[in-house]
This record gives sequence, C-alpha cells and structure tokens, in this order.
Amino acid sequence: MHRASVASRRGGYSHPMATTKSASTDAIVLLKNDHKDIRRAFDQFEKAGESAEKAKGKLVDQIIELLTVHTYIENEVMYPRVRALLPDLEDDVLESYEEHHVADVLVMELSTMKPSDERFDAKTTVLIESVRHHIEEEEQEWFPKVREGLGRKALQEIGAEMEKARKKAPRRPSQPSALKKTIDAVVS
Ligand SMILES: [Fe+2]
Ligand SMILES: [Fe+2]
Repeated sequence: MHRASVASRRGGYSHPMATTKSASTDAIVLLKNDHKDIRRAFDQFEKAGESAEKAKGKLVDQIIELLTVHTYIENEVMYPRVRALLPDLEDDVLESYEEHHVADVLVMELSTMKPSDERFDAKTTVLIESVRHHIEEEEQEWFPKVREGLGRKALQEIGAEMEKARKKAPRRPSQPSALKKTIDAVVS
C-alpha cells in the first residue's frame, strides 16, 4: 500500500510530522511511522473473527505490501548507512537482515496462499509474532543507539534518501527488486 493510499484509508488523516518540514525526514521518525501502520494492520488481523476470510485476506495483502516496502527501504538505505557509519552496530545490523529474511520467506509463502488454506492463519500469526519482536528490538534497543551515534543531520539525510527509495520500492514479494533481496540474504 502506498503511503498516500494508507493515509486516504484513514480518512485523509496525515501525520502531523508531514507538515513539519524540519522533522519530516528524520529516518527514525519515518521508520516508526511505518511501524505504527504495520502494528495497526496486525491488530486488525487479530481482531478479525475466525471466519472473516475476506477481511483477513485483505489485511494480509495490506501486511504484505507494508512489509515489502518497509524492509526494502531499511535494507537498501538505513541498514547499509548505519553499518558504514557506526561499525560497532554491525552485529545488530546483520541480525536484523536475518530477521527481515525470515519475514520475507513467510511473506512470500503467504502471498501465494488463500485465506481458506489450512496454514494461512498459523503462518500469519508466526509472521506477526516475529515482526513484532523485530520492531520492538529496533525501537527499544537499536534506534536509541543509532540516534545517539548519528545525530540529527545524518538522520535527516538518511530519511530523505529512504523516501526516495520508497518511491521505487517493490509492493509485492514477486517483484524482481524484492526477489533480489531474498536471494542476497542467502548468497551474498
Ligand atoms: Fe527492520
Ligand atoms: Fe523497521
């Protein structure tokens, strides 16, 4: 889901940061906004009833799109920049790439399934649990260290670069730029 359409689904609500130019491209603020959208979709999936197959199918489509875009901009911009600028955080970055890879595999499998499939709910639940854990680690442990190490100006520059990457980000795991990420995780 493109950010614009996420905003329109919320009745045209746009995040207040979007109008505050000085803070609008802070990489951590942008990533936390994405996390909020992702968590909301997770909560909605969990609240949908056991038999709400149509709603769950739509929500999983939305989750797939949100995660495909988000992991792309982190993998393409945030993680390599942080790794280059803050070598002490290399282990965290490598662990995060692997957690993205686990999510990519589940997302790829889910994208070929129907909500009526026996494993659909179970796979989505495992995806949600694993991504929630990952997001928590990013927000609680990783982002504070990154903010302290990089400072405001570098974060604004990285954020601007991420927004550029977002425009060409894949929306489905079957797109070549998303597949490349999955292959890189195994062979590079
Ligand atoms: Fe991440
Ligand atoms: Fe993230």
